Amino acid sequence: MPQRIGRFISLEGSEGVGKTTNIGVISQLLEARDIPFVCTREPGGTPLAESLRDAMLTQRAERVDALTELLLVFAARMQHLENLIKPALARGEWVICDRFTDASYAYQGYGRGLALERIALLEEWVQDGLQPDLTLILDLDPTLAEQRMRARAKDRMESEQLEFYQRVRSGYLARAVTSERYKVIDAGQTMDAVAAAIEVQLTACISDWQTRP
Ligand code: TMP
Repeated sequence: MPQRIGRFISLEGSEGVGKTTNIGVISQLLEARDIPFVCTREPGGTPLAESLRDAMLTQRAERVDALTELLLVFAARMQHLENLIKPALARGEWVICDRFTDASYAYQGYGRGLALERIALLEEWVQDGLQPDLTLILDLDPTLAEQRMRARAKDRMESEQLEFYQRVRSGYLARAVTSERYKVIDAGQTMDAVAAAIEVQLTACISDWQTRP
């Protein structure tokens, strides 16, 4: 029987919505079903892409242009796709990615105000049609997210004003209505309720993967 290629799942949301905890939830669900997977993140996932992440997130005196930011995340993405994501999918492994291109639309597009068409051009160039099979958007009012984040040391992207995160959130919600692959999860619920909502979506994705030839 030919090996089935893996599924590509991305997890999105503004800062403080609980992505890290819920990557753990997804990992446990896949482990319990003996599905091989890799967890990774963007920007990052390979040594070079992690260096580009550091370059992007470091607090610096120099003003960072929004287009520079966009090019850094797409350079990291190219490296990540070629060296980690595509090989893992081809081996039949699932890829669980903490953020992907929807973050570029939400942060650099809606947040920074770059034209969405520019992002779409880079997306086409770098991804050549490859998209996540399922994108879970953890949605939370940024004022609540900010309360959760208060104790954390902040990187460059986490140091924006509330209005920036409101635009990011509206960007994610605008994207969510454009395709069936998006599932919005209310991240303001209890942790158990969020985990249960993720399990529903993941179970549907697993059964589709098992039944589709
Ligand atoms: P995080 O994944 O640890 O939350 O940090 C990554 C930061 O990078 C986060 O502030 C969102 C930002 N980011 C972008 O601005 N554009 C992108 O395309 C990606 C993947 C992340």
